[in-house]
Amino acid sequence: MTIKIKKVPTHIAIIMDGNGRWATKRGLPRNLGHKEGVNAIERTILACLKYGIKYCTFFAFSTENWKRSKEEIEGIFNLLREYIKKDDNSFIKNKIKLTHIGVIEPFPEDLKKELLQLEKQTKDFDKLIVNLAINYGGRDDITRAVNSLINKGYKIITEKDILNELDTKTMPEPDFVIRTSGEMRLSNFLLYQMAYSELYFPKVYWPDFNEKYFLKALKIYEKRNRRFGGVN
Ligand code: IPE
Ligand code: IPE
Ligand code: MG
Repeated sequence: MTIKIKKVPTHIAIIMDGNGRWATKRGLPRNLGHKEGVNAIERTILACLKYGIKYCTFFAFSTENWKRSKEEIEGIFNLLREYIKKDDNSFIKNKIKLTHIGVIEPFPEDLKKELLQLEKQTKDFDKLIVNLAINYGGRDDITRAVNSLINKGYKIITEKDILNELDTKTMPEPDFVIRTSGEMRLSNFLLYQMAYSELYFPKVYWPDFNEKYFLKALKIYEKRNRRFGGVN
């Protein structure tokens, strides 16, 4: 049964945190937490379809996550590779468009190829846009945007100019940012784009996130009063 929500966010952005702690708590290696985290992504995508969310950005790998062990980084890449291969049918079947933000150059060649291929195959779908933030950093995004404007010859820039250069230029700014695991920080996510996003920090570790938590989040968003600096 789908519960009616009067006001759903157009763009949800999720900082999927707590995979490592989820695993450690169970005496498992951290990478098993990431593996379980992929299942939570799949559940969340289905929930987005069910509740009519248009854009969902998943923070999967930050520009700072290179500080982690080689083993953990490779584990994350392997999961990403498996996920793209395994789920290509579900993207196509469900008419989901896949995009990414962040700089993928340093990623393994075959992974990049698979990702870009699936993006190409799904580029005309518009029911739901699943956007993966990989090797993404908010400061890096802003810096690349400004450099791009400099390269184009701009001497003076406006806020709009920056927005139009950011990796998210084709999508609206996130209405709702969810960070699981109870940590209350942004960790260099969509800094420029989050100026007026509603924030929510549920305690649940990402691998345990499911439709129940998703619905709870939607209900919390529904009650928020967005004023954007005005009065109502
Ligand atoms: C988030 O989970 C996933 C990535 C950063 C790739 P963590 O791996 O940060 O999990 P914790 O915070 O250590 O529990
Ligand atoms: C943010 O989580 C990055 C992702 C979820 C991909 P981190 O676990 O890397 O952030 P910090 O280090 O706790 O701030
Ligand atoms: Mg973490």
